Amino acid sequence: MKQSEFKKRRKKLIQSIGKGAIALIGSAPIKIRNRDVDYPFRQDSDFYYLTGFNEPDALAVFIPERKEGEYILFCREFDEKKALWEGAHAGLGGAKADYDAEEAFAIEDLNKVLPGLLENKAKVFYPMGRNSELDHNLLAWINTVKNRSRSGVTAPSELYSLDLILHEMRLFKSDSELKLMRRAAEVSAAAHVKAMQACKAGLFEYQIEAELIHHFIQNGLRAVAYPSIVAGGKNACTLHYTENNSKLKSGDLLLIDAGAECDHYAADITRTFPISGRFNEPQKQLYQLVLDAQAAAIEQIQPGLPWNQAHDASVEILTKGLVELGLLKGKVKKLIKDEKYKPFYMHRIGHWLGMDVHDVGDYKVNQEWRSLEAGMVLTIEPGLYIPADCKTVDEQWRGIGIRVEDDVLVTSQGHEILTSGVPKSITEIEALMQAV
Ligand code: GLY
Ligand code: MN
Ligand code: MN
Repeated sequence: MKQSEFKKRRKKLIQSIGKGAIALIGSAPIKIRNRDVDYPFRQDSDFYYLTGFNEPDALAVFIPERKEGEYILFCREFDEKKALWEGAHAGLGGAKADYDAEEAFAIEDLNKVLPGLLENKAKVFYPMGRNSELDHNLLAWINTVKNRSRSGVTAPSELYSLDLILHEMRLFKSDSELKLMRRAAEVSAAAHVKAMQACKAGLFEYQIEAELIHHFIQNGLRAVAYPSIVAGGKNACTLHYTENNSKLKSGDLLLIDAGAECDHYAADITRTFPISGRFNEPQKQLYQLVLDAQAAAIEQIQPGLPWNQAHDASVEILTKGLVELGLLKGKVKKLIKDEKYKPFYMHRIGHWLGMDVHDVGDYKVNQEWRSLEAGMVLTIEPGLYIPADCKTVDEQWRGIGIRVEDDVLVTSQGHEILTSGVPKSITEIEALMQAV
């Protein structure tokens, strides 16, 4: 991502908050895994969206129309010993030269510098309640300014959530964001193909997970967007199953929900396919039903249509199908009204997708489901999960879990499926798996 794009975003934010305001946003902290080993660092998405700065111990400050510069970055000072042991870091010089900060201060100087920046600002925008240390420090800095009131300065009196502005910005993806999302989608789709090809009875779920991760990393995408779900048979009925340690059985389905992250942008794909390479009859019927529900939902992804219309379409198809197959009994309309489909389809059709897999952005505006607009990206992921101990349905259906998930961009003409590189029709899946 070019620096000019981050700059454009900062400009927009600075314009939105307006003169007399200040905005603050902190980097992600380092998290300890055990003793002196940290988890791999992942920058806070909001912070990265505005700065492109990929270090911990940093705080970005934005002050419209400030003479000395509107964008101030607090970060770690350059330290040669640190550079030798831990690698490159920008330092104050780099913050200005490489990341376009107009002023840079050492993070250690926060308490000294920040109260001065808050002086005479009426409004403070920051991500409330996300980082208790920042919450606490901000109030302390504001109190410091209040204590200076006798010298004629005023302290901020209004706190605003930065999320409202920032998350609305993040909801609409630019061309350069879409380039990264397309790459994440492409690599992830190819990894699912590899997983289908590698699948056979007797392997363990983690061995299929290894195929996915191998392909991600081979292609330079070293982080998964979320822990991969590789769930054979009834494990697929546990929505967030990530143990991935069971043996794959011929005759079962395998559900894989996995996606890579490309420069902080996620892909999120689910496919379900037969471990043997051939669907049996009940699997085929339930699978086709989920696929039909997905197709009906994807048809509803068009600018101007309300977000929930895709969900409603999926509920209608699935409920109707469950009645036809005998898993539900009664009138479709009444079953939908009474939410009788919910024991088998308990989640919604999908979510916004972007830097976070469950990305930011409101789903309702003024209590109404919002309308889709070009540039939004969302997942469409209907599923059916028939618990293994479900006594109300015929035995043949029990323990089957199916989800099909694609990433869909809303375009001015309708939509574009970003993850079409991995097959999902019964014939395509069986052909791919037979060809191995
Ligand atoms: N992988 C998480 C989800 O599908 O929402
Ligand atoms: Mn999803
Ligand atoms: Mn998913």
